Amino acid sequence: MNLTHDERAMLDGKYGKASRKAMEILVGLGTIYGAKKMVPVSSVQIAGVSYDNLGEAGLQFLSSMANGGGKARVLATLNPAGMDIDNWRSLGINSEFAENQKRVLEAFARMNVITTCTCTPYLVGNVPHFGEHIAWAESSAVCYANSVLGARTNREGGPSALASAITGRTPVYGFHLDSQRIPKLTVEVTGEISHYFDKNESFYFSALGKVIGERLETFGKKEVPYIMGIKSCSNENLKSFCASIATYGGAALFHMENITPEAAKLSSPKPTVIIERSDLDMAVQSLSSSASDEVDFISLGCPHLSIKEIAHLAELLEGKKVIKEFWITTARPIKQIADEMGYSQIIEKSGALFASDTCCVVAPIKGRFNTMLTDSAKACYYAYGKNNFKTVFKTFKEVVAEAVGEGSSHRDSKSNNSSANSILI
Ligand code: F3S
Repeated sequence: MNLTHDERAMLDGKYGKASRKAMEILVGLGTIYGAKKMVPVSSVQIAGVSYDNLGEAGLQFLSSMANGGGKARVLATLNPAGMDIDNWRSLGINSEFAENQKRVLEAFARMNVITTCTCTPYLVGNVPHFGEHIAWAESSAVCYANSVLGARTNREGGPSALASAITGRTPVYGFHLDSQRIPKLTVEVTGEISHYFDKNESFYFSALGKVIGERLETFGKKEVPYIMGIKSCSNENLKSFCASIATYGGAALFHMENITPEAAKLSSPKPTVIIERSDLDMAVQSLSSSASDEVDFISLGCPHLSIKEIAHLAELLEGKKVIKEFWITTARPIKQIADEMGYSQIIEKSGALFASDTCCVVAPIKGRFNTMLTDSAKACYYAYGKNNFKTVFKTFKEVVAEAVGEGSSHRDSKSNNSSANSILI
């Protein structure tokens, strides 16, 4: 690989041990994927933050990079941690875990990484612009950055994202190249279901991400789809859709006609995959376990809730009391806006718990609950794969209604959770 003078100096250890290790990681990765050079990045999102996923070995790696003088050269933010940094006790997190989680965050802070702990960095100030080269981990955020923002990133892992933060570089291959961003198949959502896709409800976007993601699997994970038939959508819809299509199809990029920025200059290629009502209905059904399962845990915020979603939640919960453990997961800066607007007070008065900085998947809650109710197809996938929870999938409004004891019993459908062998978030 052709390295610049500065990149060669990092590899030779002239910038310290951590920079050398980081450049070794990136050169190794670039060599595997046939990259000819590096490119500067302006933004990094690092995954692998929860101590529940990292363990002691992961923490030791981070400490060694911090001790070796590693410092982020560019804006770098973090994925969710294993707990709410302030409010961990009320979420039932034990103090030993809390201590270890704090050591993880301290290591990142020593490296000048901003400890935001959210999977929606684009809602809290880490917002790359169109065409910008970045290095992001977190599959839903990668898909959002590539598709919705038009920035350019591969699906980085925790170590390679950290390496990019320290060096300010990433090897040029995959989605950094024009040729890899061209769609290879068309997905047409038929008119009979276009009314399902309501700007104010992300439920069917989440299910659609599962349907298309699973179809992509049959064509090979790397195929970029050109999606037609969605008339309009909100940022929240796209957030949910990105999480699903990345989870179920490994997608890091899609184009959506009249919606995403690169779609206008592209045409719809053959073959064409048709998505019908029955596909969507089957996906919805498959995300719920059998009707006999009693929900004992409710979670909204996968990906982390926007301020608009929190405002809606406050409206739905005003004057009501929740009857089950109910976590609201969001980024801390979003929670702070909710505090200022009075939304948090309404939500907390209902008995729902804010779980800022974390989520129902990366928190150490395996064994605590049996069945989780959510509006997120991604949360269903990992709640089962990581925590062995059964799942019930409903709309945002239905989830809140169930939480306050006003909902109908959940859908009578077959158990068909997909197995998750590894945590990719
Ligand atoms: Fe975010 Fe956790 Fe979902 S990291 S995308 S809330 S599984």
